[in-house]
Amino acid sequence: MTTKQPDGWSSKLGVIMAVAGSAVGLGNFLRFPGLVADKETGGGAFLIAYFISLLIVGLPVCWIEWTLGRFGGSCGYNSSAGIFHAVIGRPWGKYVGILGFIVPVGVYFYYVVIESWCLGYAWTSFSGGLDLGKDAAAYATHFRDFAGLSADGSVLGLKGPFLFFVGVFLLNYVIIYRGLSKGIEFICKWGMPLLIFIALVLLVRVLTLGTPDPTRPELSVWNGLGYMWNPDDVLGGLAKPAVWLKASSQVFFTLSVGFGVIISYASYVKRNDDVVLSGLTATSANEFCEVGLGGMITVPAAYAFLGASAVAGGTFALGFNVLPQVFASMPYGHLFGGLFFTLLFIAAITSSLSMLQPGIAFLEEGLGLDRKGSVALLGLVTAVGCTLVVWFSEGLKALSTVDFWIGDVGIFLQGTILVYVFNLAFGFEKGWTEAHHGADIAIPRFFRPIIRWVAPAYLTLVFLMFMLRNLAGWNLSFTAPAFSPTEPVLDLIGGEGHPPSGVARLTVLFLIIFTVFTVVLIQRAGERWNRR
Ligand code: PHE
Repeated sequence: MTTKQPDGWSSKLGVIMAVAGSAVGLGNFLRFPGLVADKETGGGAFLIAYFISLLIVGLPVCWIEWTLGRFGGSCGYNSSAGIFHAVIGRPWGKYVGILGFIVPVGVYFYYVVIESWCLGYAWTSFSGGLDLGKDAAAYATHFRDFAGLSADGSVLGLKGPFLFFVGVFLLNYVIIYRGLSKGIEFICKWGMPLLIFIALVLLVRVLTLGTPDPTRPELSVWNGLGYMWNPDDVLGGLAKPAVWLKASSQVFFTLSVGFGVIISYASYVKRNDDVVLSGLTATSANEFCEVGLGGMITVPAAYAFLGASAVAGGTFALGFNVLPQVFASMPYGHLFGGLFFTLLFIAAITSSLSMLQPGIAFLEEGLGLDRKGSVALLGLVTAVGCTLVVWFSEGLKALSTVDFWIGDVGIFLQGTILVYVFNLAFGFEKGWTEAHHGADIAIPRFFRPIIRWVAPAYLTLVFLMFMLRNLAGWNLSFTAPAFSPTEPVLDLIGGEGHPPSGVARLTVLFLIIFTVFTVVLIQRAGERWNRR
């Protein structure tokens, strides 16, 4: 047995704040509005699929992670691999937890890069440098240069964007080095209230915008809200599998569920502390920030100033081209713009910290490293991954490749694995009882069949559709040509009129090497755990 004094949360509220901090992130304020505003798969149908997914997979997998996490913690493990080793109790069990290391660390590779854009934009906005006049092209050019969209390697060098990146990267490690309660919990306890305060200020500003240009009365905040929230062609939308895939990926992404993050956070919860109400509270806080704040600020503001065409350009365009232009058109815009990007930065850093913690926990307990050693090793691994993303910035190819294979496919798999492990390896009845141990509320009984049957069936089905679409060339969008693999798959294998992308292939190769490296680490960890 190790005798190391275990790290832990200082209070019950602290862990809820930390989980909420992890959940509330760029997903709430950029990804979600971008998805809803997307006319292809967004709108009313998307929202219906989103709320159904929240109910049948989001909450259930969230409770599963909290339950398995606290259980694993009581056996002395804090990482997915360790917890699965304890839960499954077979030599191969620990390997099932591999995605609990790969996914959060892999998402960190690019998430922290976007986080540094947010800080950079906050800085530039406060200092007045983001007021580029009325010409939309100027904003696009600014973003292109800042993120290095036009040429690989163009962000490197001792200038703004790169310095922001290095600063933000290091800041994450300084905080994580301080430990769970003094680092993560401290930042989340202060950051979350501040974030909500800023969001409310911005919300009031946006909802009082009225009709900024009296000569164009159709461009109002209210029409912007309508554009986003009014349901149109709901049945047609719900018939598209892509809508369900996007909705459930967003649910996972925004709740930080299916990453190996919550399971690790929950492993530090005391054996007799509640997990059911805590999970529900953190989820509700996230939904308030996502639907109530994220869904009300960006799109309506952009619509009121620039109209529908400006809103539909995708997540990054909305955040980094359109909104700066919107802020530049309002009085005190540099302040509101600065506040908005500060909000994004706070939301992002409380999330990126949570991506590092599972890795740190694994390196500490698996390899017996101390905090310094684990921070150094994880720092090295993430530095390599981030360099890849920062260097191959042209068209954000590396970023979107990692986002797809890790942030979409990986999360999905990890979520599915969690459900199966809970139902089969741990055992549903045992799990249900375990969840209620020390619980402040009972999970409504209709979640029993949902966790047991509906969630696994749904996840398996969506995944099969994804495989069919990409591998068997099945026509599942009902409108697309028979063989329509998604773009990142085409980047890899090439298709008609779509040559494979060297950068995408290199990125995937890197991810494979990273996976092999992780397998080796887990194997070594296993030897250590068997000796215990
Ligand atoms: N939930 C975060 C967001 O909405 C993203 C995240 C993913 C955070 C994985 C932690 C782990 O932006």
